[in-house]
Amino acid sequence: MALWGQSLWVLLSGPRGKRGAIWSWALSSCSSLIGLVSATGLVSHWTEVFKKRGIPEARESSEYIVAHVLGSKTFQSLKPVLWTQPLTPKQLQYIQELCSRRLQRMPVQYILGEWDFRGLSLKMVPPVFIPRPETEELVEWVLEEVAQRSYAVGAQDGPLILDVGCGSGAIALSLLSQLPKSQVIAVDKEEAAISLTHENAQRLQLQDRIRIIPLDVTLEGSWAHLLPWGPVDWMVSNPPYIFHKDMEQLAPEILSYEDPVALDGGKEGMDIIAHILTLAPKLLNASGSIFLEVDPRHPELVRSWLQSQPNLHLNLVAVRRDFCGRPRFLHIQKSSP
Ligand SMILES: C[S@@+](CC[C@H](N)C(=O)[O-])C[C@H]1O[C@@H](n2cnc3c(N)ncnc32)[C@H](O)[C@@H]1O
Ligand SMILES: *[C@@H]1O[C@H](CO)[C@@H](O)[C@H](O)[C@H]1NC(C)=O
Repeated sequence: MALWGQSLWVLLSGPRGKRGAIWSWALSSCSSLIGLVSATGLVSHWTEVFKKRGIPEARESSEYIVAHVLGSKTFQSLKPVLWTQPLTPKQLQYIQELCSRRLQRMPVQYILGEWDFRGLSLKMVPPVFIPRPETEELVEWVLEEVAQRSYAVGAQDGPLILDVGCGSGAIALSLLSQLPKSQVIAVDKEEAAISLTHENAQRLQLQDRIRIIPLDVTLEGSWAHLLPWGPVDWMVSNPPYIFHKDMEQLAPEILSYEDPVALDGGKEGMDIIAHILTLAPKLLNASGSIFLEVDPRHPELVRSWLQSQPNLHLNLVAVRRDFCGRPRFLHIQKSSP
């Protein structure tokens, strides 16, 4: 079950409770927990509490938290004996603590401290962007395209891939895990993202094929730092692409906990995209490709922006739709001048 499966960018802000009120209420609800000590009972209890407080995905949230405290990823995968067995006071207290965070609208991914992306378990730390299910589709597309090319016969090297705005390392590390000969350069301007990508690379034993570089793509000449590692065969990015005016529409989970730098793409969501496309021809090999995740309004905006920049020699060659049918992924290719 994918939390936020389809509704990520359209979740509207719900009512926001007063922090103090939430806390005192949560603490007083503690006493009513005495007697409610089985996992199943706790899930029902917290589901009701979350529903009353207007917390989205009430049942999923309480199931994930209770399962986590009992050492499992999902409630369904818990051993049935654990559903009815009484919990220890320590476990009860831990569940209480984690559920209190959910009452403050903290995303479940941050509460649990880890989340799966394409079967890889990644550490999650606020405010580093939580990988979304649609980005798994972007990675899938890149893997399909990579599989269609053959790399120099006999060469032990696979493709060199650049991930711009690596966040937790989700895209970079899932590509590495699927492409055993590839190497990845991952860049991000945020220190928190850089250090989380390092940690996740270590966790997955992929640190030997990834180079993680702090870099702001909007800074003049920043790409020059990458030249010694290039040219790269593929560039991939899930950049900040939300239209600035849409930012305030985002759910409280996102607005209060995730770094706005990971989300806000400026007036038409194109600020970082334009910088990525401007530096791409300098870094890509002669026929290299870029894959981008964007807003559904971007395929047209990017097409006309590229037409206004003929000296970049980049063409939008394909657009893909996400699982909701919205045009969300772009394949842009470099052509020889
Ligand atoms: C939408 S998040 C994507 C994170 C990760 N790739 C994923 O898909 O889960 C965008 C990332 O771009 C980074 N970023 C934003 N502006 C940047 C810039 N000017 N230069 C480099 N990275 C930037 C943010 O820090 C954030 O980690
Ligand atoms: C350049 O990169 C593309 C993938 O984008 C790859 O198919 C091609 O073989 C590479 N060309 C060279 C000369 O390495």
